[in-house]
Order: sequence, then structure tokens, then C-alpha cells
Amino acid sequence: MTDNQLLGLKPALGWNSWNTFTWDINEQLIRDVADRFVSEGYKDAGYEYIVIDDCWSLKERDEDGNLVPDPEKFPGGMRALADYIHDKGLKFGMYSCVGTHTCAGFPGSFEHEFQDAKLLAEWGVDFLKYDYCFKPRQVSGELLYKRMSLALKNCGRDILFSACNWGEDNVYQWIRESGAHMYRSTGDIQDSWESIKNLALSQLDKACYTGSFCHNDMDMLVVGMYGDSNDGFIGSTIGGCSDNEYKTHFSLWAMMGSPLMIGCDIRNANQVTKDILLNKELLNINQDVEGRGAFRIKPEPQWFHSDDVFMLVKVLADGDLAIGFFNLSDSQRELSLQFWDLGLSYASGHSLELYDCWAHEHIGQFKERYNPVVPARDCLVVRAKVVQ
Ligand code: GLA
Repeated sequence: MTDNQLLGLKPALGWNSWNTFTWDINEQLIRDVADRFVSEGYKDAGYEYIVIDDCWSLKERDEDGNLVPDPEKFPGGMRALADYIHDKGLKFGMYSCVGTHTCAGFPGSFEHEFQDAKLLAEWGVDFLKYDYCFKPRQVSGELLYKRMSLALKNCGRDILFSACNWGEDNVYQWIRESGAHMYRSTGDIQDSWESIKNLALSQLDKACYTGSFCHNDMDMLVVGMYGDSNDGFIGSTIGGCSDNEYKTHFSLWAMMGSPLMIGCDIRNANQVTKDILLNKELLNINQDVEGRGAFRIKPEPQWFHSDDVFMLVKVLADGDLAIGFFNLSDSQRELSLQFWDLGLSYASGHSLELYDCWAHEHIGQFKERYNPVVPARDCLVVRAKVVQ
């Protein structure tokens, strides 16, 4: 098997410049992030892609029709930046768009797909996020994703293809066939609890549309931003979230199989942020090799709970189950999980040995049911082992 066949096997782990920095990016920032990936343990935890989002190029292509990095932001050029990132054992991502322009008004790749893919390969790019703005209305998005996918697969380099059409045009129905390795299923995240909750709820019935080689991307993480974005839409006028809300956000994205692209300024991340982003148990659940979506169970008694209170269960390759008890409501709730809903009958004689993935401790052995009390906007994530 070549490396290319494994590209996109698991949800991508990395960092993206957009949520915090939007247009205010430069090569020193990207180098600093690469340094922090190594020194702060992100690389060891599995994070590998460092992605420059929109606003990296000049407003015009050169006379040969090539994209040109903004020389003020990236004076050393993209090849040198890619080398710097590769020397640290990390991977380099960039951004373009199916349309004539990117969302921020820089040149898009429409009718330049093969030329741009070749240039990206020459620069040493390993990941392309491909947005959906300024798409000619008479041309189908499905066709344009197929076109760039083909261009990337034939550019001479393994480049992970990250589609970003915000869930438009029933994308989940056709994106896997296009060759994309991940696809944005939602509009842009904001650094607010309402946004996190709405995005998660919108994807709960889409578990069968994610999996190995084509993952449902619920958007970059806002964990650790605390309202610190230079774009008011994303964060600064909203004020960010509490630590528990960030923990719940990360748990939802991890359990639901989304790529985990950090969006905060990791140069200034506090200890709580690091503990969330570097939680090994949650990352293991997200990266489980079978890549299954998580199914939803409504807690008992069914009539008592609203739709924002639910359990998610992800079947793992080694026979364990990852179980998330999510209380997205505004009041404390008891969530009763009956083990028959997991396929475990009382008659089997088996119990579940539960391990708390946030407290990092064993909870105990339970038969038939487990009833944790979960505070408002919080969650409990356990790894459950079937035992005698
Ligand atoms: C769109 C995408 C965002 C970001 C911006 C850049 O809104 O959904 O993730 O890439 O464009 O302009």
C-alpha cells in the first residue's frame, strides 16, 4: 500500500490560522506555531497539519497565471516555510477556493485547478482547504470538487483534500465519491456556546456520512479562544466560552469523528486549554482506526428529556465503546443509560467497566444501567470495556 492510499484514513489533526488571525497572518506566526507544536506536545499527541487559511496571496495572479504569496506576509516564500515545517516532522496546509475568488476576495482556483495543484505540489504543500465562495452559479459544485480532487491526485504529491462548502447542496450525498478526504458540513463556527451547540445538533443525524477517507468536518475548534479573534463574527464581539463549554465542544467533535483543527493562539494557551486539546483518551477515540460514526441514544425516561440531552456511542476497533453523556441544556440533568440500548443484554451476564476520560480514573463496574448526573452545558465521556 502506498502512502497515498492511507491519506485521510483518520480525521486530520492540526491547526488553522483563520479563527483567531483571519487576515493578520505572516510566516513568523506559522513558524512559531510549528515550534509550539513540538515544544508543547501537540506533535507528540498526533497533531500534524499547520494550515494557512485565506488572505495569504496577492490580489492578482502573475503574468503566467500563477498565484503569488504576499511578499510582505511571506517574504521567504512558501517553499521555505514548507521546508521549515517539514524539518520538524509536521505537514503544511494551504487554502484556495472553487470560485473565481476566495471568500476574502483573493484569487480562487476556478479554471486554474491543475495549474494551482502543480504549484502547491512544488511548494511542498500537504493539505488543501478548498472553499465555496464566488462559484459561478451555472457550474455545479460537485463537478468543481471532482475537478480539484483529480488535479491533486495527479500533481505528484500526496495532498489531503479538505472540501469546504458549508454543508450546501446536500454535500454529504456526493462528496465521498469526489475524492475529498474531509468536508465541511456546517456554516462557520463562532466562539460562542450557541454556535457550538447548533453545529453539533445539526450533525447528530449524519453519523452514517462520516468515516475513513471522507470525514465530516464540523469546522475548526474554538477551544481556548476566549473571544480572542480579530474578526468580530468569530469571537471578539461575542466573548468566548467557559472552560466547561470548551471541554464539551472538544468532546462532541472528538466523539462525532470530526477532524480536530485547533483555532486558538497556541502561543498563549493556558493549562486548561492544553489539557483539553491534548487529552489522549479523547484523541484516541477520535482517531480510532475503524472510523465509525457515533450513534445517539435518548436517555431514559424518554419523555423527560429535550433533544439537547443525549448519549453518543462510538464502537471502537478493540471492542470497547466510547460513550459520551451530553447535557447541552441549561440545567443539571441525570442521564440514564440502559445497557440494552448498546446491545448488551442482562442475560449475557456481562458488565461494563467504565473509565472517565476527563477525570482520567476508573469509575467502576456496572450491570444493566449507569445514571450519571451531568451539570448544564457539560459532559461525561467514558471508555467502556465489556467484562464478565
Ligand atoms: C469561509 C470558510 C472559513 C474561512 C473563510 C476565509 O467562510 O468557511 O472557514 O476559510 O471562508 O475567508
